[in-house]
Amino acid sequence: MPLCTSTSDLTQTLAPWRKQGGKIGFVPTMGALHDGHGSLVTRALSENDCVVVSIFVNPTQFNNAADLEKYPRPFEQDLTFLNAIDPKIVVYAPEATDLYRGEVVSKSYRFGAIASEMEGRHRPGHFDGVGTVLNLLFRAVEPTNAYFGEKDFQQLQIVRKLVELENLPVNIIGCTIHRAEDGLAMSSRNRRLTPEQLAAAPFIYKTLKKAQEDFKHKSIPAIVREAEAAFAAHPILELEYFEIAGIHNLKTAYRKHPSNTYRAFLAAFAGEVRLIDNMGLN
Ligand code: PAF
Repeated sequence: MPLCTSTSDLTQTLAPWRKQGGKIGFVPTMGALHDGHGSLVTRALSENDCVVVSIFVNPTQFNNAADLEKYPRPFEQDLTFLNAIDPKIVVYAPEATDLYRGEVVSKSYRFGAIASEMEGRHRPGHFDGVGTVLNLLFRAVEPTNAYFGEKDFQQLQIVRKLVELENLPVNIIGCTIHRAEDGLAMSSRNRRLTPEQLAAAPFIYKTLKKAQEDFKHKSIPAIVREAEAAFAAHPILELEYFEIAGIHNLKTAYRKHPSNTYRAFLAAFAGEVRLIDNMGLN
């Protein structure tokens, strides 16, 4: 499987595809790959001539040094995982100084109000870090199509805004959340859960499912209150936020408007591990 550890390696590897005018699909990741990533890669393979998967744990999007340090990095396993899907996948795993071309710092973006809601409020600087690294990755890979999971629904909206602000010629494709049988959204962070936390974590999905059901007949404040109360009584999971927001601006919603589309979003801690999830309500 082609492995490019520098941007110049990648440029050389992709040169024949570019010459032929082939479609390049791109799946950006921070490694610790799971079946959720696998589903993005499989879709990318079915819609493009060549697929690049980046593996890069981006320091500038972590607002918590311990979280960055403990982020899982099973690089060899990741290569085996991708090789089993398709040995033609191009893996791009640059060094930070190579990708950032020097100092590893974030640009400051004007993403607008969507960046100050939920994840933006609880993880200051996070979206500037995500925007900065994706801008660099998109410029290195020059993909036709790039694939993102809806588990990071707010990130997906930020990426769409980034592409507009940076005028990047790439189609952003959002893909539905990949869940385990018990409903737990696939995440690289799940690897850090103890068996007890892993058994408790599907409570997140159950709470979202209940909100989806209740949305048909209960008010938004009542649904939020019940979700908060359910977490307050939970012995293992600690809620950071539970919000219902309209998908057009991601602002916290307090009343339903028949013409709007809503999703419920939450972040919760299992010990030190922060998990996020979301679900469409109507
Ligand atoms: O969602 C992720 O894994 C990361 O935020 C991304 C998009 C790879 C940027 O580092």
